[in-house]
Amino acid sequence: MARAGQVGGTATAPRPTLPAPTSRGGQSTQTAPAAQEARQGGAAHRQVAVVTGAGSGIGRAVALALIAAGWTVVLAGRRAEALAETSRLAGPAGPDGPAIMTMPTDVTRPEQVDALFAAVHERFGQLDLLFNNAGTFGRAVPLEELEYDDWRAVVDVNLTGSFLCAQAAFRTMKAQEPQGGRIINNGSVSAHTPRPHSLAYTATKHAMTGLTKSLSLDGRPYHIACGQIDIGNAATEMTGRMQTGILQANGQMAVEPVMDATDVARTVVHMAALPLSANVQFATVMATNMPYIGRG
Ligand SMILES: NC(=O)c1ccc[n+]([C@@H]2O[C@H](COP(=O)([O-])OP(=O)(O)OC[C@H]3O[C@@H](n4cnc5c(N)ncnc54)[C@H](OP(=O)(O)O)[C@@H]3O)[C@@H](O)[C@H]2O)c1
Repeated sequence: MARAGQVGGTATAPRPTLPAPTSRGGQSTQTAPAAQEARQGGAAHRQVAVVTGAGSGIGRAVALALIAAGWTVVLAGRRAEALAETSRLAGPAGPDGPAIMTMPTDVTRPEQVDALFAAVHERFGQLDLLFNNAGTFGRAVPLEELEYDDWRAVVDVNLTGSFLCAQAAFRTMKAQEPQGGRIINNGSVSAHTPRPHSLAYTATKHAMTGLTKSLSLDGRPYHIACGQIDIGNAATEMTGRMQTGILQANGQMAVEPVMDATDVARTVVHMAALPLSANVQFATVMATNMPYIGRG
């Protein structure tokens, strides 16, 4: 389907070194009126989402929940096999089955991010949602032992990667017809309060709040909404240490309560399904009894 509008003029063709996107399902033929209806009415049906870090944890849970809610979902992340597994978990493809595209992408690489959003534009002609989720905790070491490369690795993924994806999505949403869309950034309770030995992670998650606020403000003229979900202790690879014992502010080690990633996913789907005239600016979803509220 041809749609008016350019992808911001910066999208480049996928580089030869990039794995080609794979897709299945039959929802690449949306009509502009259908997209308009979905945007204005808030119905998720036929809308197109990009989820970064979709090969594991929260990204996988959110991708599966969006697919179950009728979204067409583009799965992005570095590991092609992990993305393929998310796609497999969505169930069998078919004319009425899920519409999914997988696109191996390193969000720290500008040319790969450009290729991702160019591929989305080419295949679907629209973008309604970016779940800006890819992230890394980095090495948990005392501040004085944090190497420059450790710092850079976390900043590159959590902040620069989030910026690159948000900018590419923003350009697409501004240029498309009908104009607009939604960006949901994955912050953290660490966007508010640090854990011990988490300087790079905490600094980048605080920075994510600035990204969210600026995107919200700069998106106003273009019907681009931006919100942030701040998660505490969803059971994923990243939070494995919380289930075995993790350093507390008082110096003790403690096992912390966790919650299921699907409970996060349900919140993201709710945020995503709102009409663009409404926005959940910030939402905190946390394991009820984790040591956060109450200073421990
Ligand atoms: N779990 C929690 O309780 C919790 C709490 C607060 C915030 N969060 C946030 O939730 C997000 C997801 O974390 P998770 O808990 O689901 O952990 P996870 O399973 O480790 O997920 C991290 C995801 O990020 C992707 N990723 C990392 N570097 C990337 C890169 N350079 N390019 C593209 N993708 C990259 C990984 O995929 P590849 O390795 O395939 O690239 C992976 O799928 C993170 O932003 C994290 O900060 C989680």
